[in-house]
Amino acid sequence: MTVPKLALSTTKVEAVASARVDAIVIGTVQGTDGPELAAGSEQVDAALGGQLAGVLASLGATGKAEETVKLPTLGSCRAGVVLAAGLGKPDEDGGIGAERVRRAAGAAARELAGTKTALCTLSTLDLGAAAEGAALGGYAFTEYKSDPGNPPLGKVELLAPPDGTTRGHRAVLKAATAIAESVAIARDLVNTPPNDLFPGSFADRASSLAHDAGVDVEVLDEKALRRKGFGGILGVGGGSARPPRLVRLRYAASKPRKKVALIGKGITFDTGGISIKPAANMDHMTSDMSGAAAVIATVLLAAKLGYPLEVSATVPLAENMPSATSYRPGDVLTMYGGKTVEVLNTDAEGRLVLADAMVLAAEQEPDYLIETSTLTGAQLVALGNRTPGIMGSEEFRDRVAEIAQRSGEGGWPMPLPEELRGDLDSRLADLANVTGHRWGGMLAAGLFLREFVADGLPWVHLDVAGPAFNTGSPWGYTGKGGTGVPVRTLAGLLSDIAEHG
Ligand code: BES
Ligand code: MN
Ligand code: ZN
Repeated sequence: MTVPKLALSTTKVEAVASARVDAIVIGTVQGTDGPELAAGSEQVDAALGGQLAGVLASLGATGKAEETVKLPTLGSCRAGVVLAAGLGKPDEDGGIGAERVRRAAGAAARELAGTKTALCTLSTLDLGAAAEGAALGGYAFTEYKSDPGNPPLGKVELLAPPDGTTRGHRAVLKAATAIAESVAIARDLVNTPPNDLFPGSFADRASSLAHDAGVDVEVLDEKALRRKGFGGILGVGGGSARPPRLVRLRYAASKPRKKVALIGKGITFDTGGISIKPAANMDHMTSDMSGAAAVIATVLLAAKLGYPLEVSATVPLAENMPSATSYRPGDVLTMYGGKTVEVLNTDAEGRLVLADAMVLAAEQEPDYLIETSTLTGAQLVALGNRTPGIMGSEEFRDRVAEIAQRSGEGGWPMPLPEELRGDLDSRLADLANVTGHRWGGMLAAGLFLREFVADGLPWVHLDVAGPAFNTGSPWGYTGKGGTGVPVRTLAGLLSDIAEHG
């Protein structure tokens, strides 16, 4: 894993043109007659004789969101290159929101691969957003390349905003750095291919990350899972030669304000099992452990930032494979806690491993239960590949959705329609794992999970099937592959709970 180093620049605004860096990033805004310069670019413009906007326009720049235009400084600045990053049209109130700054900084960082150091002036608009965007846009995963090509951007110096104190700025930067590093941890886990990341190796990696961060860790192996009756995890993991695990991480501040249980789906590869998936795009199922990666990364973050909370991650790990030892459609599983489930489709495996993990996590009597998973293709059908579906107890669900939107990860509150619940009734068992029809597939999965949450416990389910893994082109601060969603939503939520309870 690499993310660029972040540092608060010691350069004064007046001295930007003489900063010792390889590139300077400035912002452009989409004006009515061409690109306009954003705050922070004044000195570069002065060094270029006040012609920056005109030169950019002649190079075809418009200032539209995520546009990047590079310009040689030809001796006018110490840096050899100015990169103009588009922020798009200003918001209705004339301002430029945090997410625009994040995306512009991210697009700039991607474009600067091969560059050692850059001075970013977008941070004068929003320091935290520019820092997060630059770090995440500069992320690279080259573990499996013989020739990694251009090294990613090495270091980003961020120009301080005009208001606030240096102490305040340092605190903002520290949080942004920690958040970006946690997102990178999640991305690394998602990007590691399934031949190297299976339940046992995932558990080992989680343990070593936890040890390094001084976080408690506990791993249940197959024997322990059997002894304690984790029927969902054992059922799903039964078809693989690489047996399942359950991992728990726990961080606690000395006087925690609240106790938060995080649960994340950890299917290290999802073939569908006996109800096997079609070949096309099955490789995307390397991302089916994104929820697990996100909650582990979030506990490490909570420890690093010392949130005044107790935060645990409970992660069921299994590989869903077809084989002579697989569970079958028609099987009835006895889940942890005793509920029985008739399996009608072995490809609806996530809810089975999660149910076990949620019941276990609730034994610790948390104040909030937060579960996230790449749970349904129906999430993609309903909301596309950038908007998580957020379900759960209504008040808490809406609080989480609001925070998800502010984080830049997006997310939209979705209902759990009562009329679909009956479709999960089983002829044999307490519950079936699918409805037998396609309608509202994301919501039906949410209703299934609700059966395993105690009444009155505020809970939320974030379905990130699409948003966790970018199968398209890079955009903003998001490259191809693992995105780290929903780490930043979870981070925002923990900080909100730390503040407001
Ligand atoms: N892991 C998949 C969901 C998924 C789909 C994640 C696309 C990422 C991208 C999940 O286990 C699954 O297979 N769900 C089934 C459920 C169905 C059988 C009720 C689905 O969505 O088709
Ligand atoms: Mn599946
Ligand atoms: Zn799955």
